[in-house]
Amino acid sequence: MDPIHNPYAPGAGTPPPELSGRQDLLERVRIAIGRTRLGRPAKGFIAVGLRGVGKTVLLREALAMATGEGFHTCFIEAHEQKRLAELLVPHLRRLLLDLDRLGRLAAEVKRGLRVLKSFLSGLKITYGEAELALDIDPEIGAADSGSLEADLSELFAAIGRAAMVRETQIALFIDEIQYFGHRDLGALIMALHRCAQERLPVLLISAGLPQMVGLAGRAKSYAERMFEFPQLGALSREDADRAVAAPAQAQGVVVTPDALDAIHSEARGYPYFIQEWAYHAWNAAPGPRIDREVILVASPPALKRLDESFFRVRFDRLTPREKHYLRAMAALGPGTWRAGEIAERLHVRPTSVAPLRSGLIGKGMIYSPQHGETAFTVPMFDDFLRRIMPDWAPPSASR
Ligand SMILES: Nc1ncnc2c1ncn2[C@@H]1O[C@H](COP(=O)(O)OP(=O)(O)O)[C@@H](O)[C@H]1O
Ligand SMILES: [Mg+2]
Repeated sequence: MDPIHNPYAPGAGTPPPELSGRQDLLERVRIAIGRTRLGRPAKGFIAVGLRGVGKTVLLREALAMATGEGFHTCFIEAHEQKRLAELLVPHLRRLLLDLDRLGRLAAEVKRGLRVLKSFLSGLKITYGEAELALDIDPEIGAADSGSLEADLSELFAAIGRAAMVRETQIALFIDEIQYFGHRDLGALIMALHRCAQERLPVLLISAGLPQMVGLAGRAKSYAERMFEFPQLGALSREDADRAVAAPAQAQGVVVTPDALDAIHSEARGYPYFIQEWAYHAWNAAPGPRIDREVILVASPPALKRLDESFFRVRFDRLTPREKHYLRAMAALGPGTWRAGEIAERLHVRPTSVAPLRSGLIGKGMIYSPQHGETAFTVPMFDDFLRRIMPDWAPPSASR
């Protein structure tokens, strides 16, 4: 069928034609937004899940919700090489300037801007001048101690108060939050804690890889009581079928039950894979009917596309030793493996590959579901590694 009318949306953060299976979670987000708007206590969110399960899509949906409710928002994507303050400051500056323009002169808003200015001097962060020009004197003695935890808390509280006098709320969206280091994460949690204690309307809605639950708890032990950690995973069979069938049906296209079976056995309910298979199925179908034969034709290009994009970009960021380690893990099969089992497969002592393993966790390739365990953060990455490194063999024991 005509690709121009293809409704499916494989991609990163690309909204799917049918947002399937996330209604309960979106309802919880809606409640938290509503409560924040009324000045009632609400827990923030750290949604966790593997790559391609729809975390970014969900954040975008929540962003639209918050904006619709009149919140002032910022959306940040954390990054391996960037510090929290560096990413946050330009957004907070814009936010405060927006609050400033929102009404008549307000002391709390001006103070927010001054505190931001002192925050910058305290941390000695340098930015492009145009980016950060703040034509205001710093608030000496506030948020300029040089301790990130203390200063960020002070800054968040100042911004929260500024929002309060403007009778608005702030929602902070952070994607890939697992990339923040221990110190940054601790400071962020503490700053939000301060806002909660002062009943200031600042809500965090964020998403990250599964290791985030542990990282947050280690950064601040009270994190588990401050946030909800909803788990996003593969869709149930029913939701997966709807993600495929509903968009087709909307254009008068039938997807037969055996086609749905075939897609499910390939995509296993993972949202990104579902989009990729459905997309190729649409293009391969000769007419307004997607059946099992169509899926058989669509599967090789769908898989090729996955290999060349979703899997490949991650594979290309690995060093040869990292590839070797992960390939040994893939050789063990799907699932979760103890670090010792992987080392054994490589005929090395676990301690000698411990730094390699930590590096791979830092890169977001693997995570530790339980202490000492290791699993891929990308669904079906083990299959891919076996495809792309077919001739790999474990080193012989004698070496
Ligand atoms: N609930 C859903 N139902 C169907 N497709 C979805 C759903 N959530 C996400 N997708 C699709 O999955 C892909 C990956 O989504 P994304 O939000 O980028 O995942 P993540 O951020 O977890 O890696 C996108 O192509 C998106 O259209
Ligand atoms: Mg994402």
